[in-house]
Amino acid sequence: MRISLPDLAAMDRFGRAIADVLRADDVVALEGGLGAGKTTLARAIIAGLGHEGDVPSPSFAIVEVYDPPAVRLPLVHADFYRLKHPSEAEEIGLDDYRQGAALIAEWPDHAGGFAHEPGCLSITLEVEEEGRIAIVEAGADWVGRVPK
Ligand SMILES: Nc1ncnc2c1ncn2[C@@H]1O[C@H](COP(=O)(O)OP(=O)(O)O)[C@@H](O)[C@H]1O
Ligand SMILES: [Mg+2]
Repeated sequence: MRISLPDLAAMDRFGRAIADVLRADDVVALEGGLGAGKTTLARAIIAGLGHEGDVPSPSFAIVEVYDPPAVRLPLVHADFYRLKHPSEAEEIGLDDYRQGAALIAEWPDHAGGFAHEPGCLSITLEVEEEGRIAIVEAGADWVGRVPK
């Protein structure tokens, strides 16, 4: 499925629509090159879960954690760009972070990928003119739940 995201307002709406249906154990895997809009979409999802204020890019810390009551459900926002090998995802304790939480993953392939998980919503962002398009692939748990 392809979704047109011609501007930041469209990006914000799409992120908030994902937030509305997000559940624990889900993964939103955000793919696309530098500047594709991964962190922008992550910020919209986190805002849609109720977080107010800044959302730091996790590109340096790798993992940022958001917990209720500031957000509707526990959320881990990760940027795996700096991992040199997928095994490093285990070393930083990703499995522990993910207990009872949803995960937003930038550069998911650097952590070994999540598309094999039924709860994975894979979103590839590509630049199109001034805006972006999203190519969406949904795992089995997302049937009937994918925002349009
Ligand atoms: N749908 C969109 N339309 C126009 N500009 C966008 C859109 N989404 C993101 N941008 C812009 O793209 C730039 C890079 O976004 P960012 O989320 O930091 O990318 P990434 O995390 O993929 O490296 C930002 O300046 C952001 O405002
Ligand atoms: Mg980013």
